[in-house]
Amino acid sequence: MAVLIAASMMDKLVVTGVSKRFGSDTVLRDISFTVLDGEFLSILGASGCGKTTLLRIIIGLESQDVGSIHKDGSDISHTHPSKRGMGIVFQNYALFENMTVLRNVEYALLRGGSVDRKKARARALELLERVGLSDQQAKRPQALSGGQQQRVAIARTLVMNPDIILLDEPMSALDVDTRLSLRSELKAIQREFGTTLIYVTHDQEEAFALSDHVMVMHQGVIQQLDVPSALIDQPANDYVRRFVARNIQLKIDSLLPYARDGHRSI
Ligand SMILES: Nc1ncnc2c1ncn2[C@@H]1O[C@H](COP(=O)(O)OP(=O)(O)O)[C@@H](O)[C@H]1O
Ligand SMILES: [Mg+2]
Repeated sequence: MAVLIAASMMDKLVVTGVSKRFGSDTVLRDISFTVLDGEFLSILGASGCGKTTLLRIIIGLESQDVGSIHKDGSDISHTHPSKRGMGIVFQNYALFENMTVLRNVEYALLRGGSVDRKKARARALELLERVGLSDQQAKRPQALSGGQQQRVAIARTLVMNPDIILLDEPMSALDVDTRLSLRSELKAIQREFGTTLIYVTHDQEEAFALSDHVMVMHQGVIQQLDVPSALIDQPANDYVRRFVARNIQLKIDSLLPYARDGHRSI
């Protein structure tokens, strides 16, 4: 019994039996999983499998038809998004174009009404410094690169001090180099702030590189939730086996031209 209680205290987020339909389409079917405090969980699956809908339900932008969501042991199934203590980062940054970078970050704090301007500014500057954008604070978002804009979006989320951050394919619009540097930065930020992260991607390599656990989804159903290596060594079913094998093959194919060039130059 004591062991059970100790284990449950580590549970940050518990999703139980969540299902969702849009019209006659069932988009999520009986989704249940637990995210531990400080964990990095990736949700991996092809386009249309329900990843975004699940994230929107977790933060409360969309409501589940059935099922519950608990955070730190409290039922937040019907709590307003602003009261869930979560932040979300989207693929398209969703920054305010008519505000400077600094305003974008402090606005989130000021909107809440509980922080005065001076404190909000100081905190926003601190976060911009943390993501390496102090020198860009007076610019409008459009003047920044995609990677920089995504850093602003991350700073804007961190400034609210959420204990769970949800990221919906945040790197999809970025080039490979930017993705790689933002990837390691994200991991460093997670360690530093001790935040629990739920990261949606269709990129297996990204999921494997970042995560403690990976959840593979297909047609609104969890296929497997496991450590990355287990998805390769012990796939739960044929879908996971094929999905992982296909991605590994694509990776090999993408590397082959370099290998051939390498041979030629020897
Ligand atoms: N607001 C909505 N109304 C109707 N259908 C929706 C809505 N949002 C998502 N869907 C449908 O739900 C399915 C899952 O979508 P989504 O959660 O965006 O998948 P993913 O993020 O994995 O690509 C898709 O078939 C999509 O068309
Ligand atoms: Mg999506």
